[in-house]
Amino acid sequence: MAFFSRKVNIEKKDILKKPLPKHIAIIMDGNGRWATKRGLPRVAGHRAGVESLKNIVEFCLEINIPYLTVYAFSTENWKRPREEVNTLMNLMVEYIQKELEILDKNGVRINPIGKLDDLPVYTLEYITNAYLQTKNNNRLVLNVALNYGGRAEIIQAVRMISENVKKGILTIDEVNENLFSQYLYTTNQPDPDLMIRPSGEMRISNFLLWQLAYTELWVTNVLWPDFKPHHLIKAIYDFQNRERRFGGLNLN
Ligand code: IPE
Ligand code: IPE
Ligand code: MG
Repeated sequence: MAFFSRKVNIEKKDILKKPLPKHIAIIMDGNGRWATKRGLPRVAGHRAGVESLKNIVEFCLEINIPYLTVYAFSTENWKRPREEVNTLMNLMVEYIQKELEILDKNGVRINPIGKLDDLPVYTLEYITNAYLQTKNNNRLVLNVALNYGGRAEIIQAVRMISENVKKGILTIDEVNENLFSQYLYTTNQPDPDLMIRPSGEMRISNFLLWQLAYTELWVTNVLWPDFKPHHLIKAIYDFQNRERRFGGLNLN
């Protein structure tokens, strides 16, 4: 006897019945492969990836997700050919130029995270302006991880804490997990509940090393430029059906 499994389509209404993640983190990966598969230059993939970002931000606003962190450029991505790096920096500026007004109007706070000082001056300028213009918005905090590295973030926190201990502003006894979190780029934000990696890679690639300690991971083979709100709906649905234990036991 043949069994046919009916494909169940999960829809937006299905995820609105249960608590949604407060903070979603996404490694926007697979742009290069998307382009190569189509015989296009890698940069075409990055351009297509920006469209996905736009759609996903819109969808997060629609379902009231308060925090979204997107990995746009890692501290390791400088190893790529200069032309690709330049394109990525230009695309960031282009995205902000095109979207800033509407993002601002929709209550999005653009919060760049990473070693921003090492960015090209013009990129930094646009990013800083976007940050300043939107810093009082609070419907959706959009952390854009740009020249971001989890290890670099931890090291800068250690340095600032050491400085403050040296100056007598802090004592060693005050250094605990809570305090440490306040020295990270994500100060006062909840840790991500859900981390999504498109393109099938099963690794973290130096993303939010501290913050992901108890985050639920969701990986899909879909490449970032093909990632649509319905994929996010499925990720959230799966997340809602997982059992988070945080090291304890759920005794019912
Ligand atoms: C993600 O796509 C964008 C950045 C890392 C900046 P990739 O460029 O890494 O795409 P793949 O992994 O080569 O397909
Ligand atoms: C992670 O993707 C960084 C971003 C998406 C910005 P990579 O493509 O750089 O990661 P690896 O090299 O596959 O680990
Ligand atoms: Mg990649």
